[in-house]
Amino acid sequence: MSSSLIESAAKVLRGGGLVAFPTETVYGLGADATNAAAVARIFAAKGRPSTNPLIVHVADPAIAKRYATVWPEAARTLADRFWPGPLTLVLPKSPTIVEGVTAGLGTVGLRVPDHPVALELLRAFDGPVAAPSANKSNRISPTTAQHVREELGEAVDMILDGGPCRVGIESTVLDLSGKGPVLLRPGGVSREQIEAIVGPIGVFEGAVRHDQAAVSPGQQITHYAPRTPAYRFDPGEREQVDEILRDRVAGALLMGRGDRPERRGTIIDMPADADGYARELYGALRELDGMNLSAIYVEMPPAGEVWRAVRDRVYRATVDLRPDRYA
Ligand code: TXA
Ligand code: MG
Repeated sequence: MSSSLIESAAKVLRGGGLVAFPTETVYGLGADATNAAAVARIFAAKGRPSTNPLIVHVADPAIAKRYATVWPEAARTLADRFWPGPLTLVLPKSPTIVEGVTAGLGTVGLRVPDHPVALELLRAFDGPVAAPSANKSNRISPTTAQHVREELGEAVDMILDGGPCRVGIESTVLDLSGKGPVLLRPGGVSREQIEAIVGPIGVFEGAVRHDQAAVSPGQQITHYAPRTPAYRFDPGEREQVDEILRDRVAGALLMGRGDRPERRGTIIDMPADADGYARELYGALRELDGMNLSAIYVEMPPAGEVWRAVRDRVYRATVDLRPDRYA
């Protein structure tokens, strides 16, 4: 990307404007994290409740340290190993980060994104950039610049186009502000990868259970859903769904066994590996969501640690085809 584009984007940020930029996970909607008015514009553009804190993006670990009041050994080793990369560390916050960013919490989520455009922007701006995913609140995160345009349009002052995102789902959020590390949101860095560095960690399970109440800010059980009614189902229910797809103008994300010519529905055959699935999930949901279908059916990916983040996102995007499953 040309340095003059980056420089104008940095200028927009300095002036309190909003810049959408690519990261390796999803596109972010950035503002100066030290400017309360700029941060307020993010919440307004997204229609995001002010109780949901934003992640602060910085160019390297040394800069991240400035915005936390403590930097435990776990933060040092994890940052060493995974930054730049899809891991957000939650730490006690320094006063420089305005309250609006962190929803009044005493902690801040920090990350160094692994994307050349994001890093160039952060270096040119030379300060912390608060950036949630660049979508309307409760909608699917954007993985291309075009998604951002469709989603936010005029509400954003500038969009930097860095092509499709490599990871495709949001960063892992790990809370390091308490006694031991706790995984708040599964994402691009797996639990196993983290545990290989810091040993066993706690896992906040609320995020994948829609039948439990929200526990505290930053841990809400949020739906990130298409507009079309979307249902998840287990592979064992495939025949039932095949039946539905034969008669209705519906869509489905299936895993394998794709070719069934008698179907009227639109089928997207999803990759059988978790990384590939993650990369394509949001784009596939968006594509089906734009087709005026009666419903979208998503086959649940397999259980197991490597699929944790993908399953979490499918849970958040859908409701159970059989609502009585947990009754
Ligand atoms: O991959 C990503 O993380 C993307 C890109 C743009 O970096 N950003 C992203 O931001 O997904 P957002 O706002 O859509 O999600 C931020 C998540 C939310 O679940 C939020 O509650 C949590 O991080 N979070 C942020 N700060 C927190 C804090 N201080 N304590 C607990 N959770 C926090
Ligand atoms: Mg988001």
